[in-house]
Amino acid sequence: MVGIEGSTAIITGGTRGIGLAAAGGLGALGATVVLIGQDASRAAAAAASLQEQGIDAIGAACDVTDYDSLAALASELGPLGEADILIASAGVMSERMSKTLRTTAAEWQRVMSINVDGVFNAMSVFGPGMVERRVGRIIAVSACLGRFTGPGTSGGLAPYRVSKAAVNALVKNLAAEMQFGKRGVLVDAMCPNHCRTDMGGPDAPRSAEEGADTIVWLATRDSLLPDGSPAPSGFLWEDREVIPW
Ligand SMILES: NC(=O)c1ccc[n+]([C@@H]2O[C@H](COP(=O)([O-])OP(=O)(O)OC[C@H]3O[C@@H](n4cnc5c(N)ncnc54)[C@H](OP(=O)(O)O)[C@@H]3O)[C@@H](O)[C@H]2O)c1
Repeated sequence: MVGIEGSTAIITGGTRGIGLAAAGGLGALGATVVLIGQDASRAAAAAASLQEQGIDAIGAACDVTDYDSLAALASELGPLGEADILIASAGVMSERMSKTLRTTAAEWQRVMSINVDGVFNAMSVFGPGMVERRVGRIIAVSACLGRFTGPGTSGGLAPYRVSKAAVNALVKNLAAEMQFGKRGVLVDAMCPNHCRTDMGGPDAPRSAEEGADTIVWLATRDSLLPDGSPAPSGFLWEDREVIPW
């Protein structure tokens, strides 16, 4: 992206894990980062930790499942609510071994509301301004477990897998509506792979920073490739490469 310095990045789930690592990466490049989580004290602590590194960071407590709260937060942020970059990283894992017919309705709704409605809400609140300004990057943090071509559709964790497949569909749909970058807004999904976070656990092979690398890369790339052709948009990415949905 031209001019990351001075840009604003909104990061849902930016208070921990992969979202926080992405915020650190974008902040180090000069973006102002807004870290959204549910827990107010964690949001404040996360912002303080980045500020100590010289990053312009703001922590904000907001439940991504609540559209009105997210819209109110965008207004409170004033000009900072006019995001150049949206990273939708807020997410939860479903209960272990929650196979489809063993999943309660409450568990299904909990996971769907955070992992799917939360992404939709963030896109709805911060996307229209990007369209108006004809510049923006929207990156939804998906997962390999949501891939139809990967380990996607079997083996428990049904709400989580289906929620990530839905995120992928949401991304593809919005990217098409954005004419795959031709309107200045690039929309993509990415898989960070298994990372050492509260969700991924301490034994995961990757650090949160390694997981966040592709997010930062997607958020900061130019809309044109060096040969002048449009940058590919509307894909699922892993390690800076397009992978099958
Ligand atoms: N870790 C992995 O191995 C892995 C692999 C593939 C994909 N992913 C995906 O990567 C994303 C980030 O995962 P992670 O490992 O960084 O998770 P994490 O460490 O558990 O952090 C989750 C983040 O989401 C926020 N959050 C959860 N529910 C929220 C809500 N209702 N409203 C606002 N914020 C909410 C949390 O805020 P609070 O601190 O306030 O709770 C926290 O900042 C997720 O979408 C996950 O599915 C992770």
